[in-house]
Amino acid sequence: MITLRENYSLKKHNSFGIDARTRYFAETENESDLVNFIRHNPVPELSVMILGAGSNILFINDFEGLIIHPNITGIEIIKETPDFITVRVGAGVNWDRFVEWAVKKNLGGIENLSLIPGSVGAGPVQNIGAYGCEVSEVIEQVETIQIADGSKKEYHNDECGFGYRTSIFKTDLKDRTIIHHVVFRLSRKPILKADYGGVRDRLKKYNSPNIADLRKVIIEIRNEKLPDPEKIGNAGSFFKNPVLKDEEFRVFIMNHPDAPNFMTEQDDFHKIPAAWLIEHSGWKGKRVGNAGTYPLQPLVLVNYGNATGKEIYELSEKIREDVFNRFNIMLEREVNLVGINS
Ligand code: EPU
Repeated sequence: MITLRENYSLKKHNSFGIDARTRYFAETENESDLVNFIRHNPVPELSVMILGAGSNILFINDFEGLIIHPNITGIEIIKETPDFITVRVGAGVNWDRFVEWAVKKNLGGIENLSLIPGSVGAGPVQNIGAYGCEVSEVIEQVETIQIADGSKKEYHNDECGFGYRTSIFKTDLKDRTIIHHVVFRLSRKPILKADYGGVRDRLKKYNSPNIADLRKVIIEIRNEKLPDPEKIGNAGSFFKNPVLKDEEFRVFIMNHPDAPNFMTEQDDFHKIPAAWLIEHSGWKGKRVGNAGTYPLQPLVLVNYGNATGKEIYELSEKIREDVFNRFNIMLEREVNLVGINS
């Protein structure tokens, strides 16, 4: 079934809780309806945007186009070997429900990504990551429909252009393709990944911990540090952690020897926590009108009440400016902006 609504409020469709409107909003529940709708698009002159659960997006203005919300559900096992299980999951499945499903079956690979808000279809777009894991490590392929003609195309992992919080779906293919299913390869012999700060320590209270225990620990840490979007509007980390090349890094660390930093997988690159830069620019826990930074994790911008998208955007610009003036580093946004050229 396809539901097409006009002049529709997006307040319930973005985790910031911004009351922006879209000219049209189309919701489809299965793949063939989605293809049909695209082939017979009633408003072909309008620009199209794909919206999953809206947990990584900031609406700065109303959207004068057509939003397609693919709400395809279902988790289907398509292959089993002694070591792995391949599952095909609908883009509209809630991400954490899928993690819960996998952990209950003792299938490893996504337990570190517990409690990340959003839908399965959004996972590959920004290559969600947390506590030492990225979703690209377990994605086998991404199944899409081309908006131009409704044709189907599958992207194997190595065609997805995965990087730190990015992929081809966020760059070259943005608003040109709709993800309808994602195929994952999960391990039947899970290996715990507990090296990220704090995780191993917390696991000590369990005797020979399994992935269910790891999931509990990750949920505990996230609940302590990150605001629940159901209670305080937010979209997780608003900025990416900046990555500095060797030379830049040497200058930076000479001037700020107390700054935490981590080597990345690529040689010669150093990651600096944006949270630290923001805190040391005086923005931790600050509030401007209805918008602010979360006191326990200033990398997360929050909507304390009825903030408009503009208020949150303006706050983010002030933070970028201050961080740049103090550290000579320009923070890059992780969240997608709608309604502004950026
Ligand atoms: N820090 C501060 N002040 C603070 C909080 C943190 O200086 O108030 C510094 C500390 O040095 C700390 C470091 O920041 O060690 C890292 O903090 P944290 O472990 O909370 O992680 P993060 O780098 O701030 C990233 C992801 C999160 C993910 C966590 C855990 C990005 C942009 N963010 O945050 O992802 O949950 O690691 O893996 O990479 C998201 O993408 O929406 C998200 C929440």
